[in-house]
Amino acid sequence: MIKLVTIIGARPQIIKAAALSRAIRQKFPDEINEIIVHTGQHYDENMSNVFFEELEIPKPDYNLNIGSGKHGEQSAKMISGIEEILIAEKPDFIILYGDTNSTLAGAVAASKIHVPIVHIEAGLRSFNKKMPEEINRIICDHCSTYLFPPTQTGFTNLITEGFKKTSSPYTIDNPGIFNYGDIMYDNTLYFSEIAEKKSNILKTLNIDEKEFLLATVHRDYNTDNEEALIGILKSFNYISAEYNLKIVFPVHPRTLKIIKSLSGHKEVDLFLKNQLIHRIEPVSFLDMILLEKYASLILTDSGGVQKEAYFFNKPCIILRTETEWVEIMETGKAVLTASSYEKIITSFNSLYKQKETEFPKIFGDGNTAELICKELLK
Ligand code: UD1
Ligand code: UDP
Repeated sequence: MIKLVTIIGARPQIIKAAALSRAIRQKFPDEINEIIVHTGQHYDENMSNVFFEELEIPKPDYNLNIGSGKHGEQSAKMISGIEEILIAEKPDFIILYGDTNSTLAGAVAASKIHVPIVHIEAGLRSFNKKMPEEINRIICDHCSTYLFPPTQTGFTNLITEGFKKTSSPYTIDNPGIFNYGDIMYDNTLYFSEIAEKKSNILKTLNIDEKEFLLATVHRDYNTDNEEALIGILKSFNYISAEYNLKIVFPVHPRTLKIIKSLSGHKEVDLFLKNQLIHRIEPVSFLDMILLEKYASLILTDSGGVQKEAYFFNKPCIILRTETEWVEIMETGKAVLTASSYEKIITSFNSLYKQKETEFPKIFGDGNTAELICKELLK
């Protein structure tokens, strides 16, 4: 029996953890014991709790309740809390997802006391070190023992940074890298049918299939920069009016706070009064994947949502200057516009008219979590 300590904290990590927990429960219940630690980075009901029951994730064994804060303050509290748990639990591995401050804290805490790190979603790079996530990923990758990049690009990035294809025994100085696909694809496949049965979101919002767009915005460079946020809201106002299209916009709490603080600005007030824009609270994952499945196009700066757009064969306007998911761009199904009003409108005009086509399969076979478990058990 091996013991894992899984660190979750931000919304996408809770969702990713569902796939590994499910694989452990269904396929390896007698071989893997998983202890779940929630740092409390996200804490609103609809940013955290909503996912546990719906996605069948066991209740966390520990919750550090760290909450929001400046990067250093938040990360330091997490490092300290995670260290204590690792000392007490003595796991064989720590599982870290993605690139948030919870990931960074887990990496620093574990590596210093020699708990081997398993980094899921390793190797992704935006090549923009102004993003806090880029720093978090690089640090986490370089102190991991097992790295699981979700794409070939992630794998190649690691090789470029000096990682080598090695053989076991794997250690922090001889890490193993394995491209077994994207754990989020496991989740989309698994929950897509369940969402059809359980989610009433289209009815609740009174929207019809294919007659709406879906949008999310939460990156700091879009929310904390007035010009950028206004550019995005202005483009939503224009598109909804020009095409008479509804836009469903589940608003991240960070973004909501800033939009409210900008009321009085012409475009913000137009946005707030716009009857075609459904500004709603963050939704559950089942609601979200149903919205993604039935939207005609998705506008987002989220890493997870741009990929799910691809899983559901939806064109995507990526409200960023670069992406870690370059494969999506290479297929021509998505366009990078940053927050530029002109670029968003031009890209929308061309992408919206594109005929629906199948998108090539590039994120694995939907069994990534099982492959990861098998590798750790070797
Ligand atoms: C974090 C991650 C980002 C990830 C995103 C997923 C870092 C550096 N960033 O960004 O990579 O894409 O999560 O959503 O780790 N807030 C609430 N309630 C909550 C959570 C947050 O009101 O439950 C508000 C607080 O005002 C907080 C702000 O949102 O200060 C930002 O939260 P934080 O977790 O620091 O960063 P995110 O923008 O959510
Ligand atoms: N998501 C959700 N409800 C929402 C918005 C997003 O369940 O209201 C899901 C989305 O389907 C994806 C994940 O959250 O699986 C992406 O998280 P987020 O956009 O917060 O972060 P990122 O992926 O950019 O790190």
